[in-house]
Amino acid sequence: MTARRKLIAANWKMNGSRAANAAWLTEFRAGRWSCDVAVCAPFVYLPQLRDGLAGLAAEPGAQNLAAETPGAFTGEVAGEMLIDVGCKWVIVGHSERRALYGETNDLVAVKAARAFAVGLKPIVCVGETLAEREAGGTLEVVGAQMDAVLKRCSVVQLAQAALAYEPVWAIGTGRTATPAQAQEVHAAIRAQLARADASAAGAVRILYGGSVKPGNAKELFAQPDIDGGLIGGASLVAADFLAICQAA
Ligand code: 13P
Repeated sequence: MTARRKLIAANWKMNGSRAANAAWLTEFRAGRWSCDVAVCAPFVYLPQLRDGLAGLAAEPGAQNLAAETPGAFTGEVAGEMLIDVGCKWVIVGHSERRALYGETNDLVAVKAARAFAVGLKPIVCVGETLAEREAGGTLEVVGAQMDAVLKRCSVVQLAQAALAYEPVWAIGTGRTATPAQAQEVHAAIRAQLARADASAAGAVRILYGGSVKPGNAKELFAQPDIDGGLIGGASLVAADFLAICQAA
């Protein structure tokens, strides 16, 4: 099995300002970590983030990209443009985009493939709602989300990027999946990857997201198939985000 380097990704969501970002970057620059780090900010702050992370072992990321190539798509941002401003990562298929902006399993897969086509590393998100979990449908829902991705992206490609398992009921709720609950789904995702490509599946990083905090990060990251985290609320506080990076 290939050794997987831990990856910690910040998802600032629709938060930040030039002043707040500058303060965050000053504090973050003084920290130390030894895992891979991505910081995913709103589009308009990507140049500021690129400059602020220069020289650090941390790369800027976006939170979405257009499914299309550049052209007449008012209000959209193409993967080519993200590359142009120095972006390396892009979150794709976050549950907020699936739930609030109608992104389907196939659209998410198209966007992941677009990211690969332009040389961005997608962090492809999957996860079930509380109702789906309570109905016993977790593995089926996540399996279908993954199936769509695997129709358009190879496991070898995914090994250059990342997946993120984010149970919707754990996002921003303070209610974290237990390490065992998360590990069960991560192992199922890896088994599905292995059915598609047994030799590459061990190299794909599967992040956990959903109320990760400095206090619960270590336990989650100790699970055999949890290869890091996608951090929402706690990533807005540089000291907390650094503590989570150090836990990895
Ligand atoms: P929280 O860490 O705020 O629960 O958000 C998780 C998330 O959605 C990261 O993408």
